[in-house]
Amino acid sequence: MKKKWWQNAVVYQIYPRSFQDSDGDGIGDLKGIIQRLDYLEELGIDAIWLSPVYKSPNDDNGYDISDYEDIMAEFGTMADMERLIEEGNKRNIKMIMDLVVNHTSDEHAWFVESKKSKENEYRDYYVWRDGKGGEVPNGLRSTFSGSAWEFDEETGQYFLHLFSKRQPDLNWENEKVRQAVYKMMNFWIGKGVGGFRMDVIDLISKVPDQEITGNGPKLHEYLQEMNQATFGGKDLMTVGETWGATPEIAKLYSNPERHELSMVFQFEHVGLDQEHGEGKDKWDLKPLNVAELKKVLSKWQVSLGNEGWNSLFWNNHDLPRIVSRWGNDTVYREQSAKMFAILLHMMKGTPYIYQGEEIGMTNYPIKDISEAEDIETINMYNERLALGFSNEELIESINAKGRDNARTPIQWDNSANGGFTTGTPWLHVNPNYTEINVENNLKDPRSVFYTYKKLIELRKKNDLVVWGEYELLEDTPEEIFAYKRTLDDETWLVVANFSETPTQWTLPAEGKELIISNYDRSDVPTGEQILKPYEAFVIRI
Ligand code: GLC
Repeated sequence: MKKKWWQNAVVYQIYPRSFQDSDGDGIGDLKGIIQRLDYLEELGIDAIWLSPVYKSPNDDNGYDISDYEDIMAEFGTMADMERLIEEGNKRNIKMIMDLVVNHTSDEHAWFVESKKSKENEYRDYYVWRDGKGGEVPNGLRSTFSGSAWEFDEETGQYFLHLFSKRQPDLNWENEKVRQAVYKMMNFWIGKGVGGFRMDVIDLISKVPDQEITGNGPKLHEYLQEMNQATFGGKDLMTVGETWGATPEIAKLYSNPERHELSMVFQFEHVGLDQEHGEGKDKWDLKPLNVAELKKVLSKWQVSLGNEGWNSLFWNNHDLPRIVSRWGNDTVYREQSAKMFAILLHMMKGTPYIYQGEEIGMTNYPIKDISEAEDIETINMYNERLALGFSNEELIESINAKGRDNARTPIQWDNSANGGFTTGTPWLHVNPNYTEINVENNLKDPRSVFYTYKKLIELRKKNDLVVWGEYELLEDTPEEIFAYKRTLDDETWLVVANFSETPTQWTLPAEGKELIISNYDRSDVPTGEQILKPYEAFVIRI
């Protein structure tokens, strides 16, 4: 594989609404991000995946775009955006724009026109169908609950929305839609962005009448067309959010010879604590089985070979915080946060850090549905309550999986609202900000922050981390997650105790050098070990 800059890069995701408010309106903004670029430079990241900053009525916090070439008023202006790109570039931090083109907002000019009449020249920009016997066209469901079809009184037809009814799906079959999207992408490329993160990109090609929405027949044709018309040959990074990817599908997207995307962002490992089956989804909880996690992560490590590239992540703005989810966010918060970091950042792929993860931020459990902000959570609650679920079990699911968990404002210091805003924050700040915050992390050389910083440095300085072969060690107690990375004649052993119980294990080889660990240890681990709760280390063997 020809080496690319994004193969040894680390990406940091910013959810702008919750990152840093600079003007006291309680909502994060672009000037706030600019103020914090030095902090991100100190961490050592190469690129920022910026969740959407475009003009939007915020039905889904910016994932419903009403103008792709304008900035959301609460976030600032186009001039602020240009400055952010420039200030980022000065620090070698590239801006990766969130590209949300499966759907627009219902306030986008295209949809406003499309709704006007069946003859309107924009009618075909969206997916319109007649009902069947006074009912919806078929059984397609929205990810945000209910039917994916919404009736429009004026023209007597239904339009498709795989997300909220204020997020109508674009009709990618229409050549004009595709060309309009490419033109918009070139507008942003012209502004100097570093690439695109493509929201639910596996949904753009669909056959709604056959209820096919993911991985549709023309998906890869469209991506090749997009590549040619926009970023192809420009050394930009592109990452596709691909919920339904298997390793084979991932190669279709990311094999460099196919000229589609740089990499996939797939979710198999983060789906392991949910029940599967008829009518089940992420809200139906089951405990994580560590053996399964090892199997899934290892499968992705070995199966792409030289024919594809994967992202590495535990968190994003749609997922609960990992330290609360699979670690321990009370007594072993720092140890488990660092264990997750070490385990993931020593793997092959491009790591993503979700804002606040690098200081070990935790979930924020709610007591009542009135505290929820997220449309997905609120719709699910209402739908399931009507189906007979109890309030208690729904709140439990929300606290485990709800998207607000990861969206609480960043805790910068121990001043009011964690230093996020001088006004009233749009979403509750986690009261543990007095203890867990950036300032405290920066003061303490043993903090979670410095583990992340060191892991990033290790990736930069060691080709082994980027390119080494991966091998899972199968012969371990179930809670021990151990793997080797090998490049030429050098091998590193990564060991993690995925539990809060001390676990005995004898290392398979003599340790020669300690590379990183999450407990203070000055010895080089070798021979029999009693691994402490969530203990993790990397040694050269
Ligand atoms: C993606 C985004 C999510 C959004 C959805 C619809 O999954 O990550 O936040 O709600 O797409 O755009």
